[in-house]
Amino acid sequence: MQRIFSGIQPSGIPTLGNYLGALRNWAALQDGHECIYCVVDLHAITAFQDPKELALQTREMAATLLAIGIDPTKHIVFLQSGVRAHAQLAWIFNCVARLGWLNRMTQFKDKAGKDRENASSGLYVYPNLMAADILAYHATRVPVGDDQRQHLELANDIAQKFNHDYGVDFFPNIEPLIMGPAARVMSLRDGTKKMSKSDPSDQSRINLNDDADTIALKVRRAKTDPEPLPSGIDGLANRPEARNLVGIYAALTDATHEDVLREHGGKGFGDYKKVLADLLVEKLTPIAAETKRLLADPPYVDAVLRDGARRAAAIADPIVAKAEDLVGFLRV
Ligand code: TYM
Repeated sequence: MQRIFSGIQPSGIPTLGNYLGALRNWAALQDGHECIYCVVDLHAITAFQDPKELALQTREMAATLLAIGIDPTKHIVFLQSGVRAHAQLAWIFNCVARLGWLNRMTQFKDKAGKDRENASSGLYVYPNLMAADILAYHATRVPVGDDQRQHLELANDIAQKFNHDYGVDFFPNIEPLIMGPAARVMSLRDGTKKMSKSDPSDQSRINLNDDADTIALKVRRAKTDPEPLPSGIDGLANRPEARNLVGIYAALTDATHEDVLREHGGKGFGDYKKVLADLLVEKLTPIAAETKRLLADPPYVDAVLRDGARRAAAIADPIVAKAEDLVGFLRV
């Protein structure tokens, strides 16, 4: 059985983008894989997080993973800071990855923005830690949204260089799983920008804990163009907002863009937004309710995470110990 690893940052409330681009696929892949899903709190602090907020959001993210149907008895759900192997292997990878490789990372450029000198050094080496997350488990398949593609290519470069430098065939190749019609969900205010937890405008995203009225309002206010929906996919060219709203509907109904246009092509956005909002409410509000129910019992969520960390460490520790041996660290 192939091993899957993926992670999500607890740096805010998970969005519809996280759900459609990643979390939904995480749940679907449980059948037929051994899955390890991680709340990446070490990654979250690459941008400053208020400590109290971080702790609350970390537990909330873990509860969301359980609420979308991840089964922690068959698979592993845990916190990155709870398994030391991640940071240990990341240090080795800091010494394997080349500055030139990191300089090409578009996410660093986006997140650091114009004030690059003031970005944390953690933000710069963020992809090395991500490579360590995956490779500490010798995981081979990684379900992510489209924005993580470049980071996974870098992880493969790191694995190859490690194997080459130390003359071994130790770290496996990673296969990105970028799935479905919503691998890149865009902002509701600007169809050329990614929907993000960290966008200053709450109207730009749907949060998984939004209530039915908030979801309906955000969809109603979503930016669109004046044309009705086209009846074929070619009609979505140069219409990023329309494409986005069609992709969201397609992902939620396990359909394709073409299927949605066959059913709704010709509708004006007023009508289409009503059906889309109803669908979103139907799919998302049960997740919010279940997350809330789980959060009423923090000791339960924490016990799941503790057990997950113990089982994760049992896999990662021997792999990272072997990597340390290969590097030549003396065991005394
Ligand atoms: P993060 O926390 O930004 O996002 C978690 C997952 O959600 C996906 N995603 C999206 N998918 C579609 N449309 C969007 N608008 C959208 N926004 C986010 C992301 O692609 C991701 O799959 N670096 C990672 C976390 C990470 C990780 C890992 C992932 C750390 N270690 C190891 C895989 C393997 C991140 O910041 O995700």
